[in-house]
Amino acid sequence: MKTSLVCGAGGFIGSHVVKRLKAEGHWVRGVDLKFPEFSETHADDFVIGDLRDRNVVDRVIDRRFDEIYQMAADMGGAGYIFTGEHDAAIMHNSATINLNVSDSAHKRHNAKIFYSSSACMYPAYNQEDPDNPNLAESSAYPAAPDSEYGWEKLFSERLFLAYNRNFGMSNRVARYHNIFGPEGTWTGGKEKAPAAVCRKVAQARNNGEIEIWGDGHQTRSFLYIDECLEGTIRLTRSAFEGPVNIGSDEMVTINQLVDMVSEIAGKTLHKHHIPGPQGVRGRNSDNRLIEETLGWRPSASLRSGLETTYAWIEQQVLRNAT
Ligand code: NAD
Ligand code: GDD
Repeated sequence: MKTSLVCGAGGFIGSHVVKRLKAEGHWVRGVDLKFPEFSETHADDFVIGDLRDRNVVDRVIDRRFDEIYQMAADMGGAGYIFTGEHDAAIMHNSATINLNVSDSAHKRHNAKIFYSSSACMYPAYNQEDPDNPNLAESSAYPAAPDSEYGWEKLFSERLFLAYNRNFGMSNRVARYHNIFGPEGTWTGGKEKAPAAVCRKVAQARNNGEIEIWGDGHQTRSFLYIDECLEGTIRLTRSAFEGPVNIGSDEMVTINQLVDMVSEIAGKTLHKHHIPGPQGVRGRNSDNRLIEETLGWRPSASLRSGLETTYAWIEQQVLRNAT
C-alpha cells in the first residue's frame, strides 16, 4: 500500500487531496493546526501540530513516504495578502514550514514533495494590462512579485528545487492560480473572490446591491478544485519537476464573475464598486507548458464549477442564518 503525508490537511486543498489519495487506496497521514472545518477528515492518521516546530515536523515525517504534499501555508485572498498587515507573519510562518518540511523529508530519505506555489510569484510588471497579462513560466525573472506572499512562494519554490539539485530529491513545484470549490474558506476575511462573490450574492435580496472591490474590470481566472487535484497528482507522478502553472485560462473580469454567479442564483443585482485591496490588474494562466509536459490541461468551464460552489455556499449562508 502506498503511503502519503499531507501537510495542511485541515485546509481547503489539503483536505481534498486527502480524499483523493484515500480514494486511490493510499494510507494517508494528515497534519495541520486544525481539523477540516466542513467535513470529517478521511485521513487514516491526523496529527494536530505546528509545522513551524521542527520537532513536530520530525515526528510526522518519521518514515519514508511515497508522496508528500506540502499545502500548509499562511494564506488568504486579496483581503488578507494585499493589505500589508500580515506581511511579516506570512513570510515567517510559511518560510519556516517550508524550511522544516524540505530538510526533515530529506533527512528521512523521502524522495518526493509536491509544493504548492502560487501565481502571486509572477512579476507585477507583466500583470498591468487586464486584457493581456503574461504568466508564462519563463517570465518569472527579473522577479518582482506584488506581495510578500508572492516573494515567499518564489523563495520556497527555489528551496524545494535546490534539494533536487543538491540531494537528488524529486520534488515537484506547481504555481496554482486561484482555486475554488466547495469546502473552501467563504467568510472571515481570508476568502477569495469566487467564494466572496457567491456569499454576497447568496446574502443579497433580488434587485438589491452587492459591494465589489475596485471597478470590477480587473481580470482573473479561477480553477475548480477537481481539476487542481488532477493536475497536482499528474505533476507529482510525472518526470517533470516544474515549476508549472496549474490554473484555468478562461479569463474573466470580476464584473463578469459577479454576473455569472447572479445568473446562477437567479437574481438581478446592482454592483456597488468600493475601494478595497485589488492586487494585480490582470492575471490568467498560461497553459502551454503543462500541455507540453503533462499532455493535459484543465478544461472544465468556470460556469460549471461556480454552479456547484454557489450551491454549497448558499447552504452555508442559510445554515449560519438560522
Ligand atoms: P488553506 O488556508 O485552506 O490551507 C492551508 C492550511 O495550512 C490551513 O488549514 C492551515 O491551518 C495550515 N497551516 C498554516 N500554518 C500551519 C502550521 N504552522 N502548521 C500546520 N498547519 C498550518 O489554503 P489552501 O487554499 O488550501 O491552499 C493550500 C496551498 O496552496 C497553500 O500553500 C497556498 O498558498 C497554495 N495556493 C492556494 C491557492 C488557492 O487559490 N487556494 C492559490 C495559490 C496557491
Ligand atoms: N477576496 C475578494 N473579496 N476579492 C474581491 C472582492 C471581495 O469581496 N471584490 C472584488 N474582489 C477582487 C479583488 O480586489 C481582486 O482584484 C480580485 O477580486 C481577486 O481577488 P482574490 O480572489 O481575493 O485574490 P487574487 O486573485 O488577487 O489572489 C489569489 O490568487 C492567488 C493565486 O492566483 C489569492 O488567493 C492568493 O493567495 C493566491 O495565491
